[in-house]
Amino acid sequence: MAGRFADSGLKSGLGRFLMASEHSKPVTAIYPGSFDPVTNGHLDLIVRGAGIFDRLIVAVARNLDKDPLFAVKERIEMLDVVTNDLPNVEAEAFDGLLMDYARAKNASVILRGIRAVSDYEYELQMAWMNRKIEPDIETVFMMPAEAYSYLSSRLVKELARFGGLPKGLVPRLVEERLRAKVG
Ligand code: PNS
Repeated sequence: MAGRFADSGLKSGLGRFLMASEHSKPVTAIYPGSFDPVTNGHLDLIVRGAGIFDRLIVAVARNLDKDPLFAVKERIEMLDVVTNDLPNVEAEAFDGLLMDYARAKNASVILRGIRAVSDYEYELQMAWMNRKIEPDIETVFMMPAEAYSYLSSRLVKELARFGGLPKGLVPRLVEERLRAKVG
């Protein structure tokens, strides 16, 4: 298949990605986001990504125009604990442009989750913009398990604030941290 792309003269994006996999070059993927806090939906995607890519960096964005509940350090600590049994997964913070960070990490893939059609427009806009900045890095979309299709960190925080967070939406550690944070 890669040969077909090479012959067709497609030199960017998918063609390069497939050609790289043909030569067994290890693929580093970055899964960026706010992870405030990590949910079971994120974790589902991390497990799926870890099964496909050689190295998966869960990258927590600093300086977003958001009012976070957890400090970046706390978010990374939670990610470290909940991904402890996945040897090819690591979590760290990044500043500035995602594409600059991805280049610095020699990553060839950005992994993003799509839950429903409503996510698609925003994700597509971001993926296109990122491709404009760096055509050699592909955005790969994956779906979490259906059970998490309605789950978001924002809703988790809201439910936790009002003491109504159902079981099974976040890892137990996150549940404890949420309880300690918002009562
Ligand atoms: O969890 P989120 O809020 O959906 O994550 C959004 C994130 C962090 C992936 C996005 O805001 C981002 O990449 N920020 C870094 C700055 C950047 O590169 N912006 C241009 C994106 S086209």
